[in-house]
Amino acid sequence: LKNIHISSQPDPGVFTSLSQYSNLAVLADENTFKYCYPLLKGLLPAHKLIRIKSGEKYKTLETCQHIWQQLTNWGFDRHSCLINLGGGVITDMGAFCAGTYKRGIDFINIPTTLLAQVDAAIGGKTGIDFNGFKNHIGMFREAAAVWISTGFLTTLPQRELRSGFAEVIKHCLIADAEAWNRLRKLDLEDIQWPTYVEHSIRIKSAITTADPQEKGERKLLNFGHTIGHALETYFLDKPRRQLLHGEAVAAGMICEAYISYRKKMLSEEGFAAIEEFIYSTYGKVKLTPEDIDHIAPLARQDKKNKAGAIRCVLLEQPGKAVFDITITLADIKKALQFYAE
Ligand SMILES: NC(=O)c1ccc[n+]([C@@H]2O[C@H](COP(=O)([O-])OP(=O)(O)OC[C@H]3O[C@@H](n4cnc5c(N)ncnc54)[C@H](O)[C@@H]3O)[C@@H](O)[C@H]2O)c1
Ligand SMILES: [Zn+2]
Repeated sequence: LKNIHISSQPDPGVFTSLSQYSNLAVLADENTFKYCYPLLKGLLPAHKLIRIKSGEKYKTLETCQHIWQQLTNWGFDRHSCLINLGGGVITDMGAFCAGTYKRGIDFINIPTTLLAQVDAAIGGKTGIDFNGFKNHIGMFREAAAVWISTGFLTTLPQRELRSGFAEVIKHCLIADAEAWNRLRKLDLEDIQWPTYVEHSIRIKSAITTADPQEKGERKLLNFGHTIGHALETYFLDKPRRQLLHGEAVAAGMICEAYISYRKKMLSEEGFAAIEEFIYSTYGKVKLTPEDIDHIAPLARQDKKNKAGAIRCVLLEQPGKAVFDITITLADIKKALQFYAE
């Protein structure tokens, strides 16, 4: 794994490489400042600290302006480095700010949520939200390094942990049947994170290295996300029913596995195992027929669609996925109806 370092606690050895930079700043949100920064502070050379509020709400141009202004005030030159300490909001936005400051300075991701460790911090996608459009502004840019300590997960709220776990399940389902067969016999509480985080990163990293710009096989990483994003979007303005990203993707994976089964691509046993494991881990999102009528058309707006057709990743078996399969609005509705029953 090039430039990716995994350990259970922050490893002093990797921090020595920071001495090459002329200036260093750490970007943290309220929670990572409180729970994660104290574990690193002693390992870092002299540095500045940028603290922002936590939450997707702040993944905006305004926050970027604040970050760029700080770097400017401190006289950061092109040999500086920004250390992104946090979940996917921090790694996406910090990477975007570093990648554009003076045409690009180095950044290092230190992801602290499960979602960021197995997904957001890896693969070079950076970005911010813009006028309500998610990840609307951004570019591809690789981190100089990604340093992962699974020990950070101990302070993560259980619901956030479970949400990130959906991407771990996804990586097994698209690429590793054996790992899936081991995983599905475990409870979330029994999982040895160092092993599964590393496994997940190996899959994501292999796929994104082979296809960095998402021309082909990188699309496999969207399994569960066509319907997952539609669910996530639908519940966005329903404060009492909000879904975390991974919770929406978990439901999306059941639906997209169901479509695979209905299209006779995936066996009934294969589908049943997926349904059972995801359902027992996440329970069920309650959906009325009216909800379903609104959710299905939202899948049409997916960035990955082409010329009006809905393109989806489907499974041929657990551990083997195919991309760019055209599905219809009726397929999506049927899957959501099945899920809701
Ligand atoms: N670039 C990519 O490829 C990619 C992939 C997936 C998701 N994303 C992005 O990631 C973002 C979601 O990431 P997220 O789920 O990590 O959200 P997040 O960064 O908002 O973190 C979730 C919450 O956990 C808190 N937190 C973080 N680490 C903690 C710790 N160790 N202990 C206690 N609390 C902690 C945060 O303050 C926040 O409140 C979205 O903006 C999404 O677009 C990007
Ligand atoms: Zn995702």
